[in-house]
Amino acid sequence: MSKVFELNHPLIQHKLTLIRDKETGAKDFRDLVKEVSMLMAYEVTRDLPLEDVEVETPVCNATLKRISGRKLGIVPILRAGLGMVDGFLSLLPAAKVGHIGLYRDPKTLKPVEYYCKLPSDVEERDLLLVDPMLATGGSAIAAIGFLKDRGAVNIKLVSLISCPEGLKAVQDAHPDVDIYVGSIDEKLNEHAYIVPGLGDAGDRLFGTK
Ligand code: PRP
Ligand code: URA
Repeated sequence: MSKVFELNHPLIQHKLTLIRDKETGAKDFRDLVKEVSMLMAYEVTRDLPLEDVEVETPVCNATLKRISGRKLGIVPILRAGLGMVDGFLSLLPAAKVGHIGLYRDPKTLKPVEYYCKLPSDVEERDLLLVDPMLATGGSAIAAIGFLKDRGAVNIKLVSLISCPEGLKAVQDAHPDVDIYVGSIDEKLNEHAYIVPGLGDAGDRLFGTK
């Protein structure tokens, strides 16, 4: 069974509270999602492997550390996942970015794919799949399935806000994918919105309704 990590750094929790406030407008919402994403990227990459490297400092030669291992890919689920990309890229500038376009059909609540463009060497990269909301889990389950179909083998899912129902669904469908979240909220409501949640992440990011 995969692991779920609830990232409880005080800065993440504080900024999530600001993000959830319905009075927070689109510009501040975008800025805060970027900041929280950067903080989450820091936590999610704690286990990156290191290797020794020889460096000549102005004082002496030294054996120091640098990141080794497989290259990284960041894959936002469109649209709302786009809001997390810049925060991740600011810490991981060499990562390549793939995109998966999915929307949740409001009647069936099932994900519908409309776009997929991934790095050509996707099977050689460790992938960070990012989406602010993990509600029923349908979108994340479908996106992970698309990534696996295209050869991805090591995937982590990163979401700002989740709920027990969505976490369980993803863990059941993809027991090899660890999940990193800023919060595990109480539940889903009758429209499959997370409670207390933050409302519709895509609409709040892009000012649509
Ligand atoms: C939201 C969100 C997730 C999905 C979560 O996207 O960004 O992708 O819903 O719900 P689920 O876990 O029940 O699948 P939405 O479908 O509203 O599309 P958008 O990003 O284009 O706004
Ligand atoms: N998608 C959102 O944007 N918010 C929710 O609460 C659930 C799905």
